[in-house]
This record gives sequence, structure tokens and C-alpha cells, in this order.
Amino acid sequence: MDISIEFLGIKLQSPLIIGSGPISYGADGMIRAHKNGAGAVVTKTIRDEAAVNPFPHIAVSGVNSMVNAEKWSDFSGDRWVDIEIPRAKAAGVVVIGSIGHTMEEVEHWVEKVDRAGADMIELVSYTEDSILPMMKRARELTKKPVLVKISPNWSNPVAAALGVLELGADGITAMDSVGPVLRIDIQTRRPMVGGERGTGWLTGAAIKPIALHYVAEIASRTDKPIIGLGGVMNAEDAVEMLMAGASVVGVCTAPMLKGIEYLGTLNIKIEKLAERLGFKTIGEISGSALSNLPASEITDKFKFEYNPSICNDCMRCVVVCPYQARNLENRIMNLDEELCRYCGLCITVCPVCALTSY
Ligand SMILES: Cc1cc2nc3c(=O)[nH]c(=O)nc-3n(C[C@H](O)[C@H](O)[C@H](O)COP(=O)(O)O)c2cc1C
Repeated sequence: MDISIEFLGIKLQSPLIIGSGPISYGADGMIRAHKNGAGAVVTKTIRDEAAVNPFPHIAVSGVNSMVNAEKWSDFSGDRWVDIEIPRAKAAGVVVIGSIGHTMEEVEHWVEKVDRAGADMIELVSYTEDSILPMMKRARELTKKPVLVKISPNWSNPVAAALGVLELGADGITAMDSVGPVLRIDIQTRRPMVGGERGTGWLTGAAIKPIALHYVAEIASRTDKPIIGLGGVMNAEDAVEMLMAGASVVGVCTAPMLKGIEYLGTLNIKIEKLAERLGFKTIGEISGSALSNLPASEITDKFKFEYNPSICNDCMRCVVVCPYQARNLENRIMNLDEELCRYCGLCITVCPVCALTSY
């Protein structure tokens, strides 16, 4: 399968987009990502003032998730337009220039980032109210595609996405980090990141279900392309994000925790998985689960199927049953249908798919 894909009129070598963050701190990071298989790279967010970050500002949180108190780019906007973007472009990177977080900054940077050679612009804002006017103004300042990054921390991210699309946004990036959040190091009793009151922002595996929800809700209401970003750590996550309606898949935490070479592995694994699932193109996967999202609650119970020949006796299905409905002995499964509430948890914890439903 050819995993190159056209996105907003530009041919990308793969559907993986590096989300705005530490990997795209400057041209060197962006070129490294491009060489390892990124389809496009979103710059670290460009603002009027270069950021001064608290110390420390990134920590791992559980498996495959992180908290961070990192601000926008610590390079000046002038450095981005004079040096970093032209260098990344000269090396063949598809560059998406991230600009935030105010109307003034849209005024100051959209035209300059466009002229520096960025292929697209991505607008980002901490506040929902400012994103509509920012989009309106950006549309006047550039003819290049403009994406708007929605935040799960806004009160109505779906409405905001539809609002900016009406104002001429070409696509949506869903989504930004989740927060505020707090982690405490129990040895030192100190917060894990040095933001005010230990505040940070959550990324990675823990936020994937939130991102999937927003991608699906937006994709159900528009045909405009979506960068599905949030919690994609492996090929299965990437395919799930595409199925929810993403056109291409954003990654930030994954290449940070697993190394930049992981992008190449991910591309190969996405290709193999897509083929195994019977897809011929990445585009075919996009939105393919949307028609299965029910308009109202499912009220029909399902039936269980147990296959003793593949069961590994791990007993997870029995252990997790809150209603004590399940019993497994010598590969004979008993279910007390009076006690069972058909919650489905037992099926989802089976590591070998010995327990399924139909
Ligand atoms: C350390 C760090 C710094 C980030 N900085 C920015 C930023 O400057 N601008 C921005 O729009 N998003 C920023 N993000 C958010 C990511 O672009 C992305 O939306 C988020 O991490 C979710 O994707 P992930 O789960 O794949 O990491 C940052 C994320 C991390 C982890």
C-alpha cells in the first residue's frame, strides 16, 4: 500500500503529522522528523515573545502519557521567519506554521510565516472566544490553507470547530493537551513539573479517547480535513483515529517517548495493519467507523461466545466482573445470567480474544 497522501492540496510522504511541540523546536528537529518519515511538521507555536519555560517542564506520567508545563516556542518569531522555516523548507519539510494565541499575534505573524515558506498555518488559542476573530483575520491575511487547533479545555470545542470552518478555515486539528492537571513525586513531595502550583497539561495515551470523541463529532458534521491528534502511540491507535474521521494522524508524545526513528516503524506498521484490515488506501480508512456510531443508545443485549481452545486461563474475565457473574474452571465457563448486567468489561480485558460477543 502507498501510504503517501494528499492533504489540503499537498502531497505528504506519510499520514503522520508531528504536532506542535518539542520535536519541532526549530529547523533541526523538523528536518530530523521529516527524514524519519513525518508527512508534515507543525512548528512549535510562534508568538510575539520567546517563551521562558519553568524548570522542569516535561515528565512522563504512567505508561505512554506525559504532563508538561512547556509554553510556546523559545525562539523569537523573527528567528522562525528568517532562519528556521526557510531552512526546514529547503530540506523538503512540509511546514505547518503554528501561530497563537491572540489577534495581535495573528496580525504580526500570519503574513510573515506565509512569506517565509510555510505550506499551511495552524492557529491556536487558549481561549475559545478569541479563535473566531483570529480565524476571520487570518483568512484575510493568507491564501494558504489555515487549520484551527481546537482545545478540549474549551466549553464547546465542536461548536468552535464548526464556527471557524464557517469563517473559512480549511481544516481542524483535534486536539490540544488536556488540563490543567497535577502530578506529585511521592519521594520529594514536589510537583513533577514546575508550572504555577505544579500545573501541567496531559498528553499521550491517557487522552486518546477524548481526541477520538472530538474527531468523530467534528467529522460527522463536516467534510473538511481533520488532523487527528491526541494519544496516538501505535499503529492501532493511528487506524482508530482515522476510522473516527481523521484524514491524517498527529503525533507528539509518541515520537518523544519512543524516539524519532519510531516514526518509520509506525509508518510500516500502519501500512501492514491497514492491509490486514482490508483497506487499499489510507483515505479509505478515514471515517469508516462513523456510520457505526449509533444515534441513540443500544438497547439490545449481546450474546457471549467463549472459545476454550484459545483461552489461556488468565482469569481476567472472572476477576474484573463486578457482579460476580462469571466463573471459569478447567476451561468451562459459567455465566450467571441473572447476575450478569451485560456491561461487557470481561470481553474487553481478554488478552487472547477467547471471550467475544455477537
Ligand atoms: C511538551 C509539549 C509541548 C507542547 N507545545 C505545544 C505548543 O507549543 N503549541 C501547541 O499548539 N501544542 C503544543 N503541544 C500539544 C501537542 O501539539 C498535542 O496537541 C498534544 O501533545 C496531544 O498529542 P499527543 O497525545 O500525541 O502528544 C505540546 C505538547 C507537549 C507534550
